[in-house]
Amino acid sequence: MRNFISVDDVTNMDALIKKALMYKTNPFADQTLGANKRIGLIFLNPSMRTRLSTQVAAQNLGMESIVFNVDKDGWALEFEEEAIMSGNTVEHVKDAAPVMGKYFDILCIRTFPSLKNKEDDYSELYIKQFIKYAGIPVVSLESATLHPLQSLTDIITIEECLESQQSEYRNQKLKIVLTWAPHVKPLPQCVANSFAQWVNGWGKAEFVITHPEDYELDEQFTKGATITHNQDEALKNADFVYVKNWSTFTDYGKIYCNDPEWMLTNEKLRLTNHAKVMHCLPVRRNVELSDEVLDSANSVVTQQAGNRVWAAQAVLSEILGSSK
Ligand code: CP
Repeated sequence: MRNFISVDDVTNMDALIKKALMYKTNPFADQTLGANKRIGLIFLNPSMRTRLSTQVAAQNLGMESIVFNVDKDGWALEFEEEAIMSGNTVEHVKDAAPVMGKYFDILCIRTFPSLKNKEDDYSELYIKQFIKYAGIPVVSLESATLHPLQSLTDIITIEECLESQQSEYRNQKLKIVLTWAPHVKPLPQCVANSFAQWVNGWGKAEFVITHPEDYELDEQFTKGATITHNQDEALKNADFVYVKNWSTFTDYGKIYCNDPEWMLTNEKLRLTNHAKVMHCLPVRRNVELSDEVLDSANSVVTQQAGNRVWAAQAVLSEILGSSK
């Protein structure tokens, strides 16, 4: 593996999941693989789980990590080719990325979409410019449209639940539901796009996406899923329910309906097959998900966040292995 930007960078998902679960059992199995190598974690916006789990993963492989919060500590970066830099941006990615490429062996980048210009956001200009100019492997810590380390974690967590409760799931067609939830501000579509892309790539479940009208996601990620505006219908017999807010894609970056009825409650959960409830975190309690669900045995959100380490470790290990 050279870069890790989307599911398309993975040649064998089952093997990657297996590797992650092996690291969960034995975190230091490859503790010298990254010896004398350095990873740069570049943040253009805030993070808790992604930042810490990737640092722990790198350390487990013997790598040194350096975090650089460009949004707070760095020069404002320009990403447009041939830009006349007479505005607020101070340094072009064309100049900054090759320098980072000299300091690090792997470069990890966290960006967010503007939610103002769909064409710009969906062109993935920021991460593509880092890949073009850094000259070293690049890992997405969330980009404008996708969050692949989160999605790998999500599939790992589903596999782990299936393994630990095999008798419960045996002989049944697995059903995974992605449900939109209310929120107080417009959020990116990245987690939902990415989850859809990975569940489709995994291909071991019936996959249903439910959201209010006007919240259709980009078909390039959802193709193959059943899409319905009837949340109750979608939740029926679900084994896993992934809860996430996203803003509108078609009329880009807006909040249309924000009906609190879409919040997942215990009453709604009763429609499911004792579903495990997933969320990438951070979560707005009693807006997206009720306390009663989050604090119940059905919630696997902490297990999910814990698994971020093993997903990151498996990906870094693949990249280190390829560059030997
Ligand atoms: N899920 C996730 O990416 O969390 P952070 O924003 O805290 O990194």
